[in-house]
Amino acid sequence: MSCAAAAVCAAFVDADNDNDEEDGDNGDDKCSATTRARDGATMASVPVTLATDSTVKPCPLRAPLVVTVVGLPCRGKSLAAHKVARHLSWRGESAKVFTVNENSTSETLSEISLFFKEGNNVAIIDGMHLTRASRQTVATFCCEAVFHHLLIEFTCNDKCLQENVADTVQFYRKLDQNIDWERRFRESNDHHTPQFEPCSALEGPLITVNNSEDPMYHSVTARGVRGAIQTDILGVLASPVIRQQTFYFSRHGESEYNVLGRIGGDADLSPRGMKYADRLARQLGGPGSAPDGPRPKVIWTSELRRTIHTVQNIPGPRAAIKDLNEINAGICEGLTYEEIQERFPQEFAWRDQDKFKYRYPHGESYLDLLQRVDSVVQALLTNTDVLVVSHQAVLRCIMAYFKGVKPDDVPYINVPLHTLLIVRSYGYDFVVETVPLKVECVDTYRIQPKVRD
Ligand code: F6P
Repeated sequence: MSCAAAAVCAAFVDADNDNDEEDGDNGDDKCSATTRARDGATMASVPVTLATDSTVKPCPLRAPLVVTVVGLPCRGKSLAAHKVARHLSWRGESAKVFTVNENSTSETLSEISLFFKEGNNVAIIDGMHLTRASRQTVATFCCEAVFHHLLIEFTCNDKCLQENVADTVQFYRKLDQNIDWERRFRESNDHHTPQFEPCSALEGPLITVNNSEDPMYHSVTARGVRGAIQTDILGVLASPVIRQQTFYFSRHGESEYNVLGRIGGDADLSPRGMKYADRLARQLGGPGSAPDGPRPKVIWTSELRRTIHTVQNIPGPRAAIKDLNEINAGICEGLTYEEIQERFPQEFAWRDQDKFKYRYPHGESYLDLLQRVDSVVQALLTNTDVLVVSHQAVLRCIMAYFKGVKPDDVPYINVPLHTLLIVRSYGYDFVVETVPLKVECVDTYRIQPKVRD
């Protein structure tokens, strides 16, 4: 059997017979592969042979994953590829986008091999890969190296295409005004359209995205997707990418607990915290604000008094969201760091040793928090002009997404009190502007202590 055929099969069949239980498999894969193959054979006349012999190399669930993003120009591939990579990296995977044109695929595949050898686990190939033959090159590579392979095909309707072209032209014009970008994109589209062979279900696990900024028209279908990472990718792709986004983030104004150095609790604002609330309102459409200044369309706070009172003079619809509540410090709620060190010296030391994974007894860790705010981040990404007023630890987790900070560094991101953070999308990236509102306050940042041997 050719490896090309095996690649198709390996994508469907987990031949890791000796390890199925550990992988969480139910042993049905060979059977369902046959079913899918039979379905596929009636659906498309793709010249593919299914592997039924033992030459197919096993591909355990935890093997590295290569994702090939397929589609004509300006269908939204790059934005989505980077969104997926950002999300996976934020959630602790090691993902990277490899931008490639079809002529340089083999070089990219060598780079990917190296990338995996270094311990990383998700490579996303952002290129057109319009023909089945070109996709087969990647599938064969995955088969030989025993990597998973997932195809993501992007299409979109004419309206979405026009909007994508206009947006891309605007972006590139800022980089070089002397090029007729619009013409360049149209010519590229016209040139590549005749080559395009839509992905077939028999090519491997496949997600198809009918891309639109309008959630009513954005749709996703999936075949053969398996395992946590591929399912995560499917979740990220399920909501549209909004091209131009602005978010406003702030911690609550200084609280009475902040002044005392106490953590957690539900204390109200200090007098300086109230002053900050007024200053923030003046910045964001409240009393005394500039008529043409920014106005959030919606305001999200935690359920705690200090955040709700911080936004009380800012106009706009609001929601108090439990997932935005501060980290639960369990048995340490209401204590100062000194009191924690005195009463629970071992806990205190453990937290300093691994602050990201450390979970307060009866409370939470940053790892828990990251999971908790995932839904908030996903909801943010389907919106724009949202003001989020929350707490130090929660905002660290959220800012980590936009800044691309690795999990272990999240607990040490600096999110000072009395500072507005404005996050704007820039292509597939985000830019963070830090605006101190100049109202005095305590500093609640605790530096990372040197780990002793
Ligand atoms: O000190 C203010 C505060 O929001 C506490 O309520 C919370 O426990 C703490 O910050 C989180 O910061 P760290 O993880 O650095 O202790």
